[in-house]
Amino acid sequence: MLNMDIKEIIRTRKSVRTFDGTAVTDAEKEKLNEYIGTIDTPYDIPVKFVLLDVKEHGLSSPVIQGAQLYIAGKVQKVQHSEEAFGYAFEKLVLYAWSLGIGTTWIGGTMDRRAFERAAGLKDGEIMPCVSPLGHPSPKRSVKEVAMRAAIKADKRRPADELFFDRDFASPLQEDDELITAGLEAVRYAPSAVNKQPWRIVRCGRQYHFYEKHGLRGADALWDVQKVDMGIALCHFMTVTGGRLSISAPSIEAPQDTEYIATVIC
Ligand SMILES: Cc1cc2nc3c(=O)[nH]c(=O)nc-3n(C[C@H](O)[C@H](O)[C@H](O)COP(=O)(O)O)c2cc1C
Repeated sequence: MLNMDIKEIIRTRKSVRTFDGTAVTDAEKEKLNEYIGTIDTPYDIPVKFVLLDVKEHGLSSPVIQGAQLYIAGKVQKVQHSEEAFGYAFEKLVLYAWSLGIGTTWIGGTMDRRAFERAAGLKDGEIMPCVSPLGHPSPKRSVKEVAMRAAIKADKRRPADELFFDRDFASPLQEDDELITAGLEAVRYAPSAVNKQPWRIVRCGRQYHFYEKHGLRGADALWDVQKVDMGIALCHFMTVTGGRLSISAPSIEAPQDTEYIATVIC
């Protein structure tokens, strides 16, 4: 169980790339491990987590400063494994933040071979992302400040570009308070290069999630933006309590926009 209000955790979480250098304590690790044991996904695809000591495995990321610990996630490469991965790993990210432990989703800026070796990645498994775990430094590094500015990390697209009613031409006017909070939680979600690929079309109580492709070809083995979609589903379902169903509606979608899943609220 998260011990802060989930909406508050989602709203206040930011990527942390500058840590104060203190170690994650044994008590904190125990809490993280206990929580990891409870993580499941609506896809019924298990995601495995491995804590990795920086010194023991010689790990680093060019964008991260002062972290002594990382966490890697692994999943069998099957249909929907990226969404399941995004959903499960984001649960861990949010729980860590409720303990005051900072994270950053890292899919690209790392020595991938070293991380995959340290995580013991097997044939048929993928490790889309890792994250540092640590106590945030009170001051961001110059590099982190520049990076956040370059990708406009504090900005999000307005709701009328993301959420629609029945078709992609009509922006959604949502009056239900809980659903509105769920949609806001989607807007706050982290995404690769802050692209925010999620689009949602409401039809009655059904919220159809689509992926607007914008980073295709970056990685042949998996689609990092499907990981983003899993994160968005995690936020929306956690806040609204809706349930997942996969059945593409007959809605005409714009070019490069792929149906992912439906949440029934
Ligand atoms: C799937 C995924 C992959 C990411 N990969 C990286 C990465 O390789 N390096 C990095 O510095 N940030 C990475 N990020 C972090 C995003 O840049 C960040 O979430 C986004 O800019 C929004 O900022 P915020 O998390 O502070 O809200 C990734 C995020 C996601 C969701």
